[in-house]
Amino acid sequence: MKVAVLGLGYVGLPLALAIRKKTNYEVVGYDIKPDKIEKILKGICPIDDIQAEEDCRNFSLKASFNDEIIEGSDIYFVCVPTPVLDDYTPDLRPLKGAIKTITKFLRRGQYIVIESTVNPGVCDELVIPMVQELTGLKITRDFHVVHCPERINPGDPKWNVYNIPRNVGGSSVEATKFIAEFYRKILDAEVYEMPDLKTTEATKIIENTFRDINIAFVNELAKSFEVLGIDILEVIKGASNKPFAFLPHYPGCGVGGHCIPVDPYYLIDRASKSGFDHKFLKLAREINNSMPAHTVNHLVDALNHFAKPIKGTRIALLGLSYKPNLGDLRESPALKIKSILEDKGADLICFDPYIKELSNAENLEQALDGAFAILLATAHKQFSALTGKKLSEFGTKIVIDGRNYLDKHDILKHGIYYKGIGR
Ligand SMILES: NC(=O)c1ccc[n+]([C@@H]2O[C@H](COP(=O)([O-])OP(=O)(O)OC[C@H]3O[C@@H](n4cnc5c(N)ncnc54)[C@H](O)[C@@H]3O)[C@@H](O)[C@H]2O)c1
Repeated sequence: MKVAVLGLGYVGLPLALAIRKKTNYEVVGYDIKPDKIEKILKGICPIDDIQAEEDCRNFSLKASFNDEIIEGSDIYFVCVPTPVLDDYTPDLRPLKGAIKTITKFLRRGQYIVIESTVNPGVCDELVIPMVQELTGLKITRDFHVVHCPERINPGDPKWNVYNIPRNVGGSSVEATKFIAEFYRKILDAEVYEMPDLKTTEATKIIENTFRDINIAFVNELAKSFEVLGIDILEVIKGASNKPFAFLPHYPGCGVGGHCIPVDPYYLIDRASKSGFDHKFLKLAREINNSMPAHTVNHLVDALNHFAKPIKGTRIALLGLSYKPNLGDLRESPALKIKSILEDKGADLICFDPYIKELSNAENLEQALDGAFAILLATAHKQFSALTGKKLSEFGTKIVIDGRNYLDKHDILKHGIYYKGIGR
């Protein structure tokens, strides 16, 4: 058996390596980015993922930016991005590109497995018609389409491609079973067979909209508790000892990444085409999108307290990636904060230990040097060094803690202005 993985990013690369590790099938990877391929061929992992880094060191992968490498595959796994356009509608161009590539080589009896996150209906309404039109082959009689949404959480020390349970649903019961059996060879986790493509597509979207809505809820509470003078972290701590029906979520300066701030728009768009208006999901997006500006407002208020303008004042923006301890900038709220501060004319110093190319300080100390205020936008472990003592040594006057990561009481004790999100 030969299998091909199209798109060697956070989803595709760990999958390709896992198939290589757990089976003796021939595995090939295809990606349109030559620099990524070059790294993979040298055994250098191009993504921030502990498991993939280890697998990259131990297993070589055949990979190319020439699509002929996928020819003759029995299964084509599609792991390309599914972002949104500027108007927040789905950008299905990478998916269509990958499907077009597959159709050049697709033969009878072969399988296309979509791992990319898509809204309900994409496989039935786009993938299958496109393949039938371009190849003349017929679904089920000649080829099969299966959806197995990836749930990987890059940088997570516990959950990886091997141990996260998966849902599999295909264009026929037989196709579902065949691909589910394939995943069972690779995973040490449950592989659940779903009734069909559309239902499987919907599972991934509800997982991520669930998270977006809960974060929006707690962000709204944070704004409310700021007005009421209540520390939301203390409230969540108290509420969390209820042993059932409460699930803690935490407020922050915004939601980033390729999934949570993107996937809800896929459902919003598709449902609206069928006449349903997702008011709740839209509101959640609106609240979460408002958090970077809300965080900057805290800084403006703090500077006002010191009768200082934002323009020309040295501000250290700490953290640029959307997630702690990783250098992933996709949809990062820190970038929105950065651009608002730049527009307001702040004398801005950015520092992210994982993103040197956007940092204009070599280290934390250099970033703190001369900064009147700091705005922490990512809870990188390196920032736990920001104690009240250290900050007062550097003469920091204001701390805006966009991740509620620092010790509020310790910072206040040192006479420094502290404001978190909802506290
Ligand atoms: N990153 C995550 O944490 C995560 C988790 C679960 C699901 N997903 C979903 O998985 C999909 C892929 O996400 P990702 O994070 O791996 O993206 P990524 O950007 O890290 O990787 C995608 C890769 O696909 C390549 N590509 C683009 N168009 C291509 C084409 N036509 N042919 C071949 N390769 C092409 C890109 O060059 C890139 O290397 C998305 O739908 C995403 O929503 C991502």
